Amino acid sequence: MNRYQQALDLDAQDPLKHLQSRFFFGCDAPIYLDGNSLGMLPRDTVSHLQQVITRQWGERLIRSWNEGWYELSARLGSLLAPLIGAGEDEVIFSDSTTVNLYKLAFGALQIRPGRKKIVTDDLNFPTDIYILEGLARQMGREYRVELAGSRDGMTMDEQTLDSLIDTDTALVLLSHTAFKSGFLYDMESVTELARRKGALVLWDLSHSAGALPVRLNDAGADLAAGCSYKYLNGGPGAPAFLYVSSALQQQLPSPIWGWFSEADPFGFSLSYRPAAGIRKFLTGTPPVLSLSAVEPALKLLHEAGMDAIRTKSLKQTQFLLDTADELLVRLGCTVGTPREAHRRGSHISLRHPEAYRICRALINPAGDRQAVIPDFRESDTIRFGIAPLYTRFSDVCRAMERTAEIISTEEFARHSLDRDGVT
Ligand SMILES: Cc1ncc(COP(=O)(O)O)c(C=O)c1O
Repeated sequence: MNRYQQALDLDAQDPLKHLQSRFFFGCDAPIYLDGNSLGMLPRDTVSHLQQVITRQWGERLIRSWNEGWYELSARLGSLLAPLIGAGEDEVIFSDSTTVNLYKLAFGALQIRPGRKKIVTDDLNFPTDIYILEGLARQMGREYRVELAGSRDGMTMDEQTLDSLIDTDTALVLLSHTAFKSGFLYDMESVTELARRKGALVLWDLSHSAGALPVRLNDAGADLAAGCSYKYLNGGPGAPAFLYVSSALQQQLPSPIWGWFSEADPFGFSLSYRPAAGIRKFLTGTPPVLSLSAVEPALKLLHEAGMDAIRTKSLKQTQFLLDTADELLVRLGCTVGTPREAHRRGSHISLRHPEAYRICRALINPAGDRQAVIPDFRESDTIRFGIAPLYTRFSDVCRAMERTAEIISTEEFARHSLDRDGVT
């Protein structure tokens, strides 16, 4: 049986296949393999937002604050919580991932006084490292950030981390799934090794939430944050979420004393008292429209179930790897993602010296070929995101075949090496 036929059979047997039609596909829809950057638009979001705009904003106006808006950040946090293995009072939507990382990292340093080291790794997303560098500078000259170095640019072994974390370490900040290689940390064992030295761990879940079952409570996790515009399908710039374990909520301070984190915002007291619980990590008025867009998407993930999503994701990433091995390795591509299932998230990176122009050719095909949308990460990586709510095996197969065609015919050479603003 050829690969495409195999893909069609796998699509026909897929228990989640009915969910694809719950997403918006325009005319000339591309094969979309970039849900790891910006998730697709759920159809329910269109009608829900229309209702939020016309009914809640248009008709109910300011009364809507007491009819759901004021509680929305916490209510959506409770809806997300089971998808990431947290208690419903441990998660809240607020700000951006970058700001949330800052708030939680600051809090962690405050409750580990005397410890001056922050550990992260060189697989991490740059914003995470910038936030730590900036925070260390603000905290004083003795504070420093140390980067665990990956040996292969793709994975991190725990011994390297272990040797860097010591009794001077206050905080370890890691991306649970690495943005470029898709390497997946063992949350429980890293949390445990940090705890043995008395350090806290802050997890960036941006590439994990909605992509695989995260088990924050089972892993004994302290802190986490992540975005909702990737696998949570909340839309461009959708508000981020943060998690603080119930054990830490009381002690952990927030650096931003905004009125939404005050115990009684509408008491308008001139002296600040932090709210009890997870609300303490809010700042100011939430962006209600974009926050509202997250709800239908979270409900879709509940409908599918995170275990079913992971089962399909692993099958699809394996199918992609097998197809790439068959078609692309002989054309100079190498796999930039760990092959062990328990070590990878839901995107696969393929590396090639012409990755940028291959990516351009996939997105902007000549003639009437269907566009394929992955994304490019410097210097030589094409990321193919698998979002099991809407990705089909046949999409994966077509994307690999098209990549092979672009490389073997050198079609990429028609494209410029000049980088777009967003790659
Ligand atoms: C792993 C990771 N962390 C943090 C961010 C930054 O998030 P934001 O720009 O929403 O603050 C991103 C953005 O893509 C990311 O992939």
